[in-house]
This record gives sequence, C-alpha cells and structure tokens, in this order.
Amino acid sequence: MSKLVLITGGTRGIGAAIAQRLAHDGYRVAATYHGDDAAARSFQAGNGIPVYKWDVADFDACQAGVGRIEAELGQAVDILVNNAGVTRDATLHKMTPEQWRTVLDDDLGSCFNMSHAVIDGMRARGWGRIVNVSSVNGQKGQYGQANYAAAKAGMIGLTKSLALESARKGITVNAVAPGYTATEMVAKIEPKILEGIVAQIPVGRLARVEEIAHAVAFLVHEDSGFITGATLSINGGQYLT
Ligand code: CAA
Repeated sequence: MSKLVLITGGTRGIGAAIAQRLAHDGYRVAATYHGDDAAARSFQAGNGIPVYKWDVADFDACQAGVGRIEAELGQAVDILVNNAGVTRDATLHKMTPEQWRTVLDDDLGSCFNMSHAVIDGMRARGWGRIVNVSSVNGQKGQYGQANYAAAKAGMIGLTKSLALESARKGITVNAVAPGYTATEMVAKIEPKILEGIVAQIPVGRLARVEEIAHAVAFLVHEDSGFITGATLSINGGQYLT
C-alpha cells in the first residue's frame, strides 16, 4: 500500500506543489486548508487530491481532523508536511499583539498540534517522516518580520528536538528553509521592496515552487532514513549575502 502523506496548507503555493509532486511520485496524498474554499475546490478537482478544512492553530481541531482523514482514507498518516503559514509583516514597534500571536500560533503552534496528532501512530508503527517548512528568514532574520522569523526559527528548534526524541523509532524529522519563492505570499510584498530583495539573491531570481517540493520529496524518501534533525536551505545563495 502507498504511504499516506498529509500536507497542511496543501492547496496553494508551496504546499500545493509538494502535494502534486508527492502524488506524482506515487504517494497517497491528502491536503488541509483553512481560508480559501474556491482554491481548495479547484485544487481537488484538478488533482484528485482530497482536501480537508480546519484551523491548524487549533489543537483539538488537529486531533479531530487527522482522525477523520485516517478513518475516511482507511490508512494512518505516514508522512506529515507542516507547511501552513501566514505573514503579518510590521516592524516590531508597530506590531500588534494580535499580529504576533497569529503568526506564532499559525506557523509554529500548528507544528506542535499536527505533530502531536500523528506522532503516537508513527511511534507505534516504527516508521514516519515529518518535514517542517521553515524559511530563510527564520535563519537570518528579516526587517518587518519579528513574528515570522521567530516562528520559523522556532520550527528549526522543534525539528531538532523532535528528531532526537524520534530517532530510535524509525521517524525522521527535518526542516526545509525556502528562500523567496514565486507564490501569492511573496507577490503581496510591495514591488519596490521585492525588487530590493531579489537584488540580494545571488541566483538572481525567486525560487520556483517545484524546487522546494523537490527538497521535500528527497527528505521523505525511504533512502533518506539517516537524515534527521537537518535543515535543508533552498535560497539561491541568499543566506550567504
Ligand atoms: N533594512 C533597513 N532599513 C529598512 C529596510 C531594511 N531591509 N527596509 C525598510 N527600511 C527602512 C526604510 O528605508 C524606511 O526608512 P525611512 O523611514 O528612513 O525612509 C523605514 O525603514 C520604514 O520602512 P517602511 O516604510 O518599509 O516601513 P513600513 O512600516 O511602511 O513597512 C514592512 C514595513 C511592511 C515590514 C515593509 O518593510 C515590508 O514589506 N518589508 C518586507 C518584509 C518581507 O520581506 N516579507 C516577506 C514576506 S514573504 C515570506 O515571508 C516568505 C518567506 O519565507 C521568504
């Protein structure tokens, strides 16, 4: 039986590309989403990948959602990709407590909630893969992103700790740290600011979503069982500048 992959925020942007790539590679795939019903419907219709709606910042909703997927698909989640995330960019002196909390809960809290919902099953079966989608901005910091950089850096600490706790159970836990990627999220940055950012990327362009999906496919592969606690940077050299 094909392994079951669950991707949070898997109907748009990087998450959708990961879902499509892993389906293409022969995995059984399910995706969660929260906001955009129309995008999720069209993703499901176009790819045949089932989609499930809940708020991954909500612990109980994650437990219930994973239970529902496993019951409906008749199979446990073998591979979890924590991809869902939001931005609320503002310099810290202008940032509201709500902007801080939303990003910490949606981007980092969701990784705890979702990992908690699948980890017991993975431990019992002696096999699992978890990939957390962090960011170059969690590695290097970014003007206007104290909340997002803190959440994305937190994901790297969570990755390393859960990797240690899971290593003897056949479960690997890794992070990918994408740089600026051609998605709706990046398209929201003011053009002048984005131009300045792209000028700092040695490769001279944004990443393509497929390039991030490629790294996730590598990490979840059976042959990647000795890679755990790692953060794979995919940033066109931006971290070096
Ligand atoms: N370094 C130093 N100074 C900077 C700066 C920088 N990178 N960027 C702006 N400034 C300066 C400006 O020149 C300006 O100076 P003056 O007042 O002297 O003119 C001052 O800071 C105020 O800047 P803004 O006018 O930009 O401040 P703002 O409050 O209007 O906007 C902001 C702040 C919304 C955060 C805006 O700076 C911004 O959009 N920045 C980009 C944030 C970003 O990269 N987000 C990534 C989103 S995509 C993503 O997160 C995916 C991923 O993982 C990569």
